Amino acid sequence: MNENLFKYKTTVIRREHFNAAHRLENSAWDGSRNRDVFGKCNNVNYHGHNYELEVMVTGFVDPLTGFVMDAKVLSDLINSEVLDKFDHQNLNVDVEEFQDLNPTAENIAFVIYSILRSKINSNHDLKIRLYETPRNYVEYPA
Ligand code: NI
Repeated sequence: MNENLFKYKTTVIRREHFNAAHRLENSAWDGSRNRDVFGKCNNVNYHGHNYELEVMVTGFVDPLTGFVMDAKVLSDLINSEVLDKFDHQNLNVDVEEFQDLNPTAENIAFVIYSILRSKINSNHDLKIRLYETPRNYVEYPA
């Protein structure tokens, strides 16, 4: 097989889902300012979101397999490293990374990226898209 014929990049995307509770708060601010800035996400007793997660891995297609990355391997990785920690948890209380970090969609996407980056071939680009609602979502890196 002529490997040069297969030198092209593509992006593999794995979509996963998790449910989690959170509360957004800046503890340096009073209650009124927190409610103004964070709205319902500042509810004292927490609330849940149905997060949709897309993990995007970009790289050259391996001519031997036709894969950038095996989607099953990617799925297993997301499940063991992210979903097992986040799904059905209270992010503020149960997840170490958010003990001192507001669990906004931005920060959750950054944390997921940080967890997965070292586990995925460093020749591949990694991007995280996280939907907090069907209409609100973030991407990291920008
Ligand atoms: Ni919220």
